[in-house]
Amino acid sequence: MSRSIPIELVSASGAATPRDTLARPLRDLRISVIDRCNFRCPYCMPEDQYAQDYEFLSKDQRLRFEEIERLAHAFVALGVRKLRLTGGEPLLRRDLPHLIEQLARIPGVEDIAMTTNAVLLPKFAQALRDAGLHRLTVSLDTLDAETFRQMSGGRGEVAEVLDGIAAAERAGFSKIKLNCVVMRGVNDGQVVDLVERFRGTGHIVRFIEYMDVGTVNQWRGESVVSSAELIARIGARWPLESLQPNYRGEVAERYRFSDGAGEVGFISSVSQPFCGDCSRARLSADGKLYTCLFARTGHDLRAPLRAGANDAELAGLIAARWTQRTDRYSEQRAELRARGEQKHVEMFAVGG
Ligand code: GTP
Ligand code: 5AD
Ligand code: SF4
Ligand code: SF4
Repeated sequence: MSRSIPIELVSASGAATPRDTLARPLRDLRISVIDRCNFRCPYCMPEDQYAQDYEFLSKDQRLRFEEIERLAHAFVALGVRKLRLTGGEPLLRRDLPHLIEQLARIPGVEDIAMTTNAVLLPKFAQALRDAGLHRLTVSLDTLDAETFRQMSGGRGEVAEVLDGIAAAERAGFSKIKLNCVVMRGVNDGQVVDLVERFRGTGHIVRFIEYMDVGTVNQWRGESVVSSAELIARIGARWPLESLQPNYRGEVAERYRFSDGAGEVGFISSVSQPFCGDCSRARLSADGKLYTCLFARTGHDLRAPLRAGANDAELAGLIAARWTQRTDRYSEQRAELRARGEQKHVEMFAVGG
């Protein structure tokens, strides 16, 4: 097994946290546990665009839980402190609470979160909480039943998502983040209703600028609604005050309602890219390391893992990749798109 950095540099204390070529550390690991989803959101996996014969990963191709845990250990040894489970839809992976239990036991992990469309939460919320999941993020683009059907590709009902959120509350999850991707002419007229519904509940609605992820969503700049526009619209109804980030490199810009009814967030990857502080690595369900949401290719960790690499060797491979990282796609979007460079990993393979 070849090693690119001396293993003695890799310590469990994270003292040897690698820095990429732009001096960004590795802090955050997003783990996709499955590439399948029970929705077909038009901005991610539109039913009519992605190949109908698309081959999802087979069980054998997916990392087993023990393999995910081994890799998570290696990432934590390199400085990762936050884990987020994603999909596709992570709750389609059987026994997910068991994986969470294993990950929660890794010394050094300070935070474990999960992004879900919530449909399966009535079944799993309590088990997830008991397993040690700290935080939940739910995708919810609108409260309007018909628009919701459109934005889930005809697969979901908004009532199911609201039931999922209620189940999560009963299981003890609070301050749930509700992610809403805004598309002009589709759900942008409904943002105020969404804010109204969750103001005062302790949950945090966050609006995400529609991005040109993957290759199948036929993104057009005209469909993006800028955060500035939304802040003005929401602020006209309920005055807003800007808040400091919770931590360096936080993706969402935070605002509080002046009347004390909680906060909302805005994720502005198109109008105000935040690559400068990006410390996120992504692991696909088949064990590829992606150093950007818009990467073309991933770096295979499954082969060395299955060939018997030890923990220090795995950490060495990850560190070697991270130290070569140059990604800052959102800052270069216009230039790269003008050059026709539009081949990226699919969003449902790395989970956002
Ligand atoms: P917290 O730990 O709660 O702050 O989570 P987060 O906001 O980092 O994670 P979440 O998955 O909720 O991010 C929300 C959305 O922001 C994702 O679904 C993506 O659409 C977008 N996003 C997150 N990270 C990145 C990133 O590194 N680059 C870009 N361009 N978009 C991102
Ligand atoms: N633009 C912005 N966010 C997206 N997501 C998926 N596709 C896109 C896109 N094209 C985000 C959504 C969803 C999460 C899984 O990924 O927030 O909730
Ligand atoms: Fe929608 Fe998330 Fe499924 Fe993509 S992975 S289709 S964004 S629910
Ligand atoms: Fe990070 Fe890539 Fe997103 Fe920039 S575009 S913030 S480098 S994941």
